[in-house]
Amino acid sequence: MPRKPRLPALLAYLFLVSLGLLLYVSGREPHEESEGVAQPQSWVPEAAEGAKAKEDPNKSVKKRGRNKELPANPHDYHMMINKANLCTNDQKLWLLVVVSSSVPNFLRRRAIRDTWGGAAALAASNAKMVFLLANSYDANLQKQVVEESRTYGDILQEDFVDSYMNLTLKSVMGLKWTSIYCPQAQYFLKTDDDIFVNVPVLLTYLQESAKTRWITGCIKQKKAFRPVNAVPGMPMPPAHPPFVAGAGYVISGDLIKELYEASLVTRPIPVEDVYITAHLARKVNAHPPIHDARFTCGERVTDDCDLAQGFTGHHIGPERMYRVWEKLNPNGITSPCFDF
Ligand SMILES: *[C@@H]1O[C@H](CO)[C@@H](O)[C@H](O)[C@H]1NC(C)=O
Ligand SMILES: *[C@@H]1O[C@H](CO)[C@@H](O)[C@H](O)[C@H]1NC(C)=O
Repeated sequence: MPRKPRLPALLAYLFLVSLGLLLYVSGREPHEESEGVAQPQSWVPEAAEGAKAKEDPNKSVKKRGRNKELPANPHDYHMMINKANLCTNDQKLWLLVVVSSSVPNFLRRRAIRDTWGGAAALAASNAKMVFLLANSYDANLQKQVVEESRTYGDILQEDFVDSYMNLTLKSVMGLKWTSIYCPQAQYFLKTDDDIFVNVPVLLTYLQESAKTRWITGCIKQKKAFRPVNAVPGMPMPPAHPPFVAGAGYVISGDLIKELYEASLVTRPIPVEDVYITAHLARKVNAHPPIHDARFTCGERVTDDCDLAQGFTGHHIGPERMYRVWEKLNPNGITSPCFDF
């Protein structure tokens, strides 16, 4: 029988083992290279840079700790409905609008087509629009969507579960599709199907000066993150890096492919706006985004006419969509929004 180790030796052994473990773990903590401020860990994106990290041990130490175990993050869902030629003959396209929608939202899509997203209205602004859908696994709804796509030619659909938690996948889908089928678009606007977009006003602004490597929208993150052991009065960094609200943000076309490629090695989180405009934007050195209060941060639009000067308005259901549109584009009479 082996001799029982004496207590002090056992304690010393345990101490060394825990010290080693501690050093190992702290060596693998994420390190933030930029900004100079120590950021709380809560929002640190965890990259999955599998192959690269293995080749370069220095890099894997500098970057996030658990990289190597995370799988790459391919976005390789089958396209159930595509519209591959939407941009083909449009080399001077100014704006591609991608509207995150959901299979059953037929009325919302119709209201958008009948108002700000109508093909004729958009053509006048050199803009195009597509809806992003995923799979509802409902045969009857799917039949209607296929029919809708035949009629309007503005539906893109990929085969992943159409759910709120999967909105991030929908936005990545928009980036992927644009980088393959519409890379010439000068600007990319991501919005939702309950948003009124004032395309002419937005376009006028975008055309004032050429923007490159540029993301703009309404910066939502302002609150500070306070750890329990914070020293009173100590300035606190935000809980998320600055990001712009998903209700409507614009990205210059030169970043779309880079952002898509960054998504392939960045673990998705369920908040699409934080993911795209903060985590991916940081990866491609296009962070922070530029704040512009003419984009909605999600607040209710009190007066329809407020949308005459703004770029986007949130919580606009189909009925109000028509009403706002008629106020801004009255047939033959003066707009009530402009007669002051
Ligand atoms: C890692 O860093 C050390 C010191 O900075 C350097 O000498 C070495 O070449 C680097 N290794 C790799 C694989 O880049
Ligand atoms: C998102 O879509 C994937 C692929 O279809 C699916 O496996 C997953 O369950 C979905 N997640 C949610 C939260 O709906």
